[in-house]
Amino acid sequence: MSDTAAVSLGLLHDYVEYDNAADSFLDDVLKGLAQSQKKLSSKYFYDERGSQLFDDICELPEYYPTRTEAGLLEAHAAEFAGLIGANASVVEFGSGSSTKIRILLDALETPAAYIPVDISRQHLLESAKALAGAYPDLPVVPIAADYTQPFDLPEVADEAARIGFFPGSTIGNFTRDAAVDFLRAAATDLGADNGLLIGVDLRKDEGVLHAAYNDAAGVTAEFNLNVLHRVNVELGGDFDLDAFTHDARWVEDKGRIEMHLVSDRDQKVRVNGHSFDFAAGESIHTEDSHKYAIDEFQALAAQAGWRAHRHWTDSDDLFSLHYLRVA
Ligand code: AVJ
Repeated sequence: MSDTAAVSLGLLHDYVEYDNAADSFLDDVLKGLAQSQKKLSSKYFYDERGSQLFDDICELPEYYPTRTEAGLLEAHAAEFAGLIGANASVVEFGSGSSTKIRILLDALETPAAYIPVDISRQHLLESAKALAGAYPDLPVVPIAADYTQPFDLPEVADEAARIGFFPGSTIGNFTRDAAVDFLRAAATDLGADNGLLIGVDLRKDEGVLHAAYNDAAGVTAEFNLNVLHRVNVELGGDFDLDAFTHDARWVEDKGRIEMHLVSDRDQKVRVNGHSFDFAAGESIHTEDSHKYAIDEFQALAAQAGWRAHRHWTDSDDLFSLHYLRVA
């Protein structure tokens, strides 16, 4: 982790960059491809292009989570504002394009600061600038960091509370153990008496899930394949992107969608001087997207030191929002 020198960036109040992501990409790729079930972490999807492709996914007719969650945020914004109270600062883990936060910010009474944390530096800065422009009275303090690794939160003057915002069911990308670890760390970072507003995708009919992760336009496939493109460009890999096929499967006993990239043929791939053999049909596991029933998620949060305070779901039971308090 680099030191916390703040750089002034026009409209941005402070900008803190943590280098806790940069070095590990190569190590992670070499380690992941050496396993018997080859793996790449889904956090590496989000370079500039991957972040844009993810935004495109959110617009797809089959991909219900984004619009369902936005609908829930809009429908209950006044209630969240009441629960959160005045002068709270909001820390968003994995802020992406900082779109949904606007619904919350519009409802909150004099928020003390908005602190978006994201691994995709360029995308973070552009989004934070746009947001700071739209909310001129709001201190915006973007932090470029991998929020699954330790990082420090800045001090904010006059904040009455510190609220975590973790929308999009990104928690679903963690294994259950990693989700508990993340939630426990968030409880510590945010401190006693604070809250977390978190979006969690619900368990549902397999057909709906399958369509959402294997869209007809092929955007999810492109998003998935983008990680190989990154390995090629950033780590000197020689993946043939035409020789791998996107596949998203529902795994019932694990309660998750798994995304894979399946090798179309026997082939050898080189990355930074190391070589990896693929048999035809062998896959790289690139993402888990866990789906939780309400009580299942509440039990997981409880293990991490959070008390379920309230939750909301849409009328089709597609998606849930939970407001947790530090127990
Ligand atoms: C990052 C959790 C919002 O798991 O649904 C979308 C990423 N992957 N389509 C998810 C994703 C494939 C997504 N989230």
